[in-house]
Amino acid sequence: MFKVNENYQKLPGSYLFSTIGKKVSAYSAANPDKKIIRLGIGDVTQPIAPAIIDAMHGAVDEMGCAETFRGYAPDLGYEFLRSAIVKNDYQARGCDISADEIFVSDGAKSDSGNIQEIFAQNNKIAVCDPVYPVYVDSNVMAGRTGTYDAKTEMWSDVIYMPCTMENDFVPEFPKETPDIIYLCLPNNPTGTTITKAQLQSWVDYANKIGAVIIYDAAYEAYISEENVAHSIYECEGAKTCAIELKSFSKNAGFTGVRLGYTVVPKELKCGEVSLNAMWARRHGTKFNGAPYIVQRAGEAVYSEAGKAQLKEQVAYYMNNAKTIKEGLKEAGYTVFGGVNAPYIWLKTPGQMTSWEFFDYLLENANVVGTPGSGFGPSGEGYFRLTAFGSYENTVAALERIKKL
Ligand code: MLT
Repeated sequence: MFKVNENYQKLPGSYLFSTIGKKVSAYSAANPDKKIIRLGIGDVTQPIAPAIIDAMHGAVDEMGCAETFRGYAPDLGYEFLRSAIVKNDYQARGCDISADEIFVSDGAKSDSGNIQEIFAQNNKIAVCDPVYPVYVDSNVMAGRTGTYDAKTEMWSDVIYMPCTMENDFVPEFPKETPDIIYLCLPNNPTGTTITKAQLQSWVDYANKIGAVIIYDAAYEAYISEENVAHSIYECEGAKTCAIELKSFSKNAGFTGVRLGYTVVPKELKCGEVSLNAMWARRHGTKFNGAPYIVQRAGEAVYSEAGKAQLKEQVAYYMNNAKTIKEGLKEAGYTVFGGVNAPYIWLKTPGQMTSWEFFDYLLENANVVGTPGSGFGPSGEGYFRLTAFGSYENTVAALERIKKL
């Protein structure tokens, strides 16, 4: 008789955004006349930039021609894309990263879930609380998190680093020593970030204790302040302790196109074992490369026209962020984030729990957001709104919220 991976049975409930989707569908079915505005999941709404669409069309045509047709992509990514990434995302910022340290994938969600596979099961992970659920859930599936306490909503073998208004959403070094530290900066869900100097102290700490940092930089394009690092490799010593995950979803609208990459520096070693070689081995075995058409689209992100068009797209979403933040403040809410990230994190009014506020907002304003507690126990009493809606919907949502 076959046996299942029992770790999956330990996962409480369903994936956060599936739960929200089901709740909204049920409300919508019961109230078909209501026009719901969705500011929940961080999914983009603006069309792919013209320079990228042109590149995709060109690549589609190549696929229809025997001379230029491509089959399997190189499993680590096409050279043209890896070089564009190195030049624009690293060398331009003074980071010494080379093309053979870049692993192109179908997105940062898969990479952030898969990366834990190359680490031993008895590693102790540390996560910010609240946190993007994929980091914890993927470690649960791997059997690395111990037992779940439904009352505290915590796993016995996970180190939680609370990020709340009391500490300005800046994680503190945990009392217990972690082996793997997940950092997402600028942060999802709080929309806040830390300075480059603060990030440097995390790099120094990781090198000192022999931990690895899994650094999720999916929201890097939204950084507006000078003293914030765009890559962890801007910090001295990061190449011996950090893996960086990048996405094309938020900076270029690829949530439906799917493209991302992971940087595993060659200097990152566990004794004599190279993590770069391990990830290459894993990638080679389990992944057949992102589609050629999509990688050409990714290359166009770094073209002059692509960069100019995407700068405008990021500005569009950040204008939404400002609209949400200022509108909420006017309505008397306490709000955070939205300066270096496309998320606004607000305190729920009165003594409402995050889910109570979710229902209240859905039923009374027909606006969907994300309950803070869905990201971890320290998210209780907070709520997230995304700036990725259209401007018109964002303004309309705020008008409705102000009337409550
Ligand atoms: C979010 O809403 O947190 C993100 O869209 C989820 C994701 O990027 O996978």
